[in-house]
Amino acid sequence: MDTQRTNCGEVNNSHDGQPVTVKGWVSNRRDHGGLIFIDLRDRSGLLQVTVNPDDHPDAHRVAEEVRSEWVLEVAGSIQPRPDGTENPSLPTGMFELAASTIEVLNPSLTPPFYIEDDIDVDEALRLKYRYLDLRRPEMYKILKLRYEVTKFIRDYLDGEGFLEIETPILIKSTPEGARDFLVPSRLQPGSFYALPQSPQQMKQLLMVAGVEKYFQIARCFRDEDLRADRQPEFTQLDLEMSFVEEEDIYRLTEHLYIQMIENLVPEKVVPKPFPRLTYHQAMEHYGSDKPDLRFELPMVDITTVATKTDFQVFQSVIKNGGKVKAINVPDKGSISNNAIRNLNRMASEVGSPGLAHIRLSPDGAVFSPGLSLDDTLLRELRESLNSKDQDLIVIMGGPERQLNSMLGAFRIELGKFFELIDPNYLAFCFVTEFPLFELEESSNTWTSSHHPFTSPQEEDRSKLDSGDYGNIKSKAYDLVCNGMELASGSIRIHDQTTQQKIFEILGYSEAEIHSQFGQILEAFQYGAPPHGGIAPGIDRLVTILSGTDSIRDVIAFPKTQSGTDLLFGAPSLVDGAQLNDLGITLKND
Ligand code: AMO
Repeated sequence: MDTQRTNCGEVNNSHDGQPVTVKGWVSNRRDHGGLIFIDLRDRSGLLQVTVNPDDHPDAHRVAEEVRSEWVLEVAGSIQPRPDGTENPSLPTGMFELAASTIEVLNPSLTPPFYIEDDIDVDEALRLKYRYLDLRRPEMYKILKLRYEVTKFIRDYLDGEGFLEIETPILIKSTPEGARDFLVPSRLQPGSFYALPQSPQQMKQLLMVAGVEKYFQIARCFRDEDLRADRQPEFTQLDLEMSFVEEEDIYRLTEHLYIQMIENLVPEKVVPKPFPRLTYHQAMEHYGSDKPDLRFELPMVDITTVATKTDFQVFQSVIKNGGKVKAINVPDKGSISNNAIRNLNRMASEVGSPGLAHIRLSPDGAVFSPGLSLDDTLLRELRESLNSKDQDLIVIMGGPERQLNSMLGAFRIELGKFFELIDPNYLAFCFVTEFPLFELEESSNTWTSSHHPFTSPQEEDRSKLDSGDYGNIKSKAYDLVCNGMELASGSIRIHDQTTQQKIFEILGYSEAEIHSQFGQILEAFQYGAPPHGGIAPGIDRLVTILSGTDSIRDVIAFPKTQSGTDLLFGAPSLVDGAQLNDLGITLKND
């Protein structure tokens, strides 16, 4: 470490009149016909360097040559900027470095894009030159926040008595929801390792081992279709505890998140305690198991009231077993006809054949085109929705599942349309009691909603024997924030008989159970303690904390939507000899 070096962004009053040496990259160079100005950037920020040809002709000659992104060492003395030339938007904007010597440590090619914040550049180019993209201050800030998040987690869990334990990356392929990435074995040709989709079984085996409190900042790999919030390799805070119930996990997770946010991003606002909704409530009122609670606008079932109207559309929906639901939007009763047209367009974009609405004006007048509501019906409707004068009511009908998903999506659009989202609010909530199984309709088979190691709720255990699988609630939970699933976990099964039963319901044969899950079933016979855990996704958390739109922005070297690493060019073809060593022959299509 060069003890003589001063960080550009840290120059302040105490340096006034002092000699300093700075090192960094040329962010900008301006030649004012004589005096040359260079904005020098290092990871701490920017400092303006001035080079005077009369005082230091050698330094000036060098300064005439330098270009953007050259690496320089500049020595000189700090002086206040002349009156009227200060830049209050820059932390060092009251000072400049009057250079006496400039040494070029390395020149640079002209970069393919400007190294500055808020650039409008194709993401593919940013990813190809990721080392330049990461040089931009806003990207460095995210890398730093990510480091602070994992450091905070490690310190916090250390204080709670957890052990961080590494688990292997080359493991056995076991079904866990997504497709595995496979790694061929050279020593055992024809056999494959799999990369872990998560360390799920290993953390449970660590509980059987008596560790009691485990965590790991774990890399996970899933060969699945990518979306804005998904990468093929991503990072989880994976944790597991013995002798716990749901409450213990909620308490730990909530404290960890609240303290982390208060320490690292104090400008963000979080609800305390985190609200909790059962899966059923979330679907019923928000039409999603990832409810966005940055604004209220719950969906309310008004089927009973709708039955009494003579509105044909609702009548036929209800006759066919469907439902009618409404959302009350406070204080928006006087929106224009044009705004109503926009709402209708938004409704059709979420797949709804129509949208009914009621505008309640401040003087008590009611506009409800097509809906002939008498006073009694209107009163009943307003009571069920808690509507006051001046509110807007929007109504949709349809088969229940479809209606929930359409009106749920429409609700999000309403929140954006009426600008109800506070950018600093982090609307956390726990969603609890997920169903244990989901019916795969195409094959009429049961799959796990979370994963097969999740325990059923005690009161629903008997349904495992009675066959009422669709109505078994589980001890699985998610932590959701701003409509994004941030973490998932469950209390696990810890007895061999129940675990075996679940595998059978999921359709595994005896032989498959033995070959794929034999190790965990065997371990459960050696005194497995009750246990449970959770796995918060670190990438999604940092995405939300940093306020960026894309998970790719919070990963140093991410992959594109098609799973490509544009910097290294992975995946790539490999040498025939390498394939030969592995006993692999490629099929020619
Ligand atoms: P699950 O599969 O729900 O649970 O994952 C937990 C959390 O990991 C994050 N996540 C992802 N982040 C980025 N890209 C992906 N492709 C991706 N997939 C998942 C999400 C998610 O909430 N072993 C269980 C956890 C447990 O039961 O303890 C598991 O992995 O934030």
